[in-house]
Amino acid sequence: MREVILILDFGGQYTQLIARRIRESGVYSEILPFNTNWESIQERDPGGIVLSGGPQSVFSDDAPHPDSRIYDFPKPILGICYGMQLLAQHFGGSVAPSEDREYGRARIGTLNSSPLFEDLPRQLEVWMSHGDRIEKLPEGFTGIASSENALAAMAWPERRFYGVQFHPEVVHTPQGKDILGNFLFKICECRGDWTMASFTKNAITGITNQVGSSRAICGLSGGVDSTVTAILTHKAIGDRLTCIFVDNGLLRKDEFHQVLNTFRDTLDLNVVGVNASQGFLELLAGVEDPEEKRKIIGREFIRVFESEAKKLGKTKFLAQGTLYPDVIESVSVKGPSAVIKSHHNVGGLPEKMNLSLVEPLRELFKDEVREVGRELGIPEDLIDRQPFPGPGLAVRIIGEITPARLEILQEADWIVDQEIKGAGLYTKIWQSFAILLPIKSVGVMGDSRTYEHVIAIRAVHSRDGMTADWVPLPYDVLSQISNRIVNEVQGVNRVVYDISSKPPSTIEWE
Ligand code: XMP
Repeated sequence: MREVILILDFGGQYTQLIARRIRESGVYSEILPFNTNWESIQERDPGGIVLSGGPQSVFSDDAPHPDSRIYDFPKPILGICYGMQLLAQHFGGSVAPSEDREYGRARIGTLNSSPLFEDLPRQLEVWMSHGDRIEKLPEGFTGIASSENALAAMAWPERRFYGVQFHPEVVHTPQGKDILGNFLFKICECRGDWTMASFTKNAITGITNQVGSSRAICGLSGGVDSTVTAILTHKAIGDRLTCIFVDNGLLRKDEFHQVLNTFRDTLDLNVVGVNASQGFLELLAGVEDPEEKRKIIGREFIRVFESEAKKLGKTKFLAQGTLYPDVIESVSVKGPSAVIKSHHNVGGLPEKMNLSLVEPLRELFKDEVREVGRELGIPEDLIDRQPFPGPGLAVRIIGEITPARLEILQEADWIVDQEIKGAGLYTKIWQSFAILLPIKSVGVMGDSRTYEHVIAIRAVHSRDGMTADWVPLPYDVLSQISNRIVNEVQGVNRVVYDISSKPPSTIEWE
């Protein structure tokens, strides 16, 4: 049986990081909404539970609370920040708003030798971010660490309940991984045998069982997620898998033929290429609203897949490379965090669909998928491809999509790609691309006035697409990109560089 640590999400900005840190230690972890009922929690038989941080104060009327039956749980609980205050409040301690709000780096001293701080120095640097503080410990608990201003950690060792006021999951708590490791291995007594090799083996068995003797199709995008999905599915059901690569007219320049050849020649997959661009572009004509575009594209993809599946006969399954962050961001009940945009893999699917989904990567973050890809022997250049959104260039053309505007963006994007690769930056950057803006501006070329399109360039560093920093690209690379675009792409007279991070922006412009 796979061991799992559950994280109840109270809307903290670092909740996903908690999951990642735990997984990096070899223990599978899953994020659930804070209000998940006890029956669903129990069903998963967790080795321990983490209560995440959150933006609320435990005093506020609408403060989120978990199903109170978790407090009778006979296994360990770790409350982080808001989670610690929940523990304190529930067991009768007193929590009060603090006058000295602690935010940023702090030093704490660990008071007692507790398994949570075992083998760690007595003084630790940690990252704090809280307003409320615990004034009186609840019965049974003792303080096990404090900062200058406040209690920093508490424990009820007999019940194996722990609370930390700081964030062990962020890099600014240098020993955070060891603290979480102590919780996992010394307190929850986890085995830590979750590796990408074990994931791969289980995923293949899972697909074999799910598909049975039926056939499946897999939608390829040319990116690492759908490639890994295809190879896993192929290993599970062999020739009963047909991969479908749809030209929706929203791909990058030359991408359709390039990708088709790679799949056939290098990966030995059975791939059908479908040119459906006319249908997609007709449906998108005149549509400006980004969510509407996503929904149209999602629906049309499924229609094409269904029609291809019908031709093949006996096909009941559609395999696709949905990742964990797509699932979390798209489902608002996952916690108090808001729906940002419907990723076409998930939120954009039509409600009625004749194919059942096979989504072996639903539990993984992007870098974990890349590891699985290496495990499966997929060539590095495919694994290292920068992510490309399912709805393609549609989300990078702001406003209406027309064949002419598409061509402008394809040409500009081609130049960005070449220059970034030429400068040796492609694999060092999460994504680098061009966006076509919905405005025109005045320029001067030769002796004439021009009134033409504006292209924005975006390059970001990110680990999983959830947060991102803009990349300070070297000036000579920016200058080369700009010169080439205005000289080589007809209809563009201005290039701008996006210097926003996520949050508050997103990576794509939509
Ligand atoms: P945002 O724009 O939400 O993007 O900051 C985060 C990451 O997700 C990619 N993205 C998508 N990937 N289907 C995908 O497979 C989609 O619908 C989609 N939308 C955005 C985006 O390129 C970035 O890496």
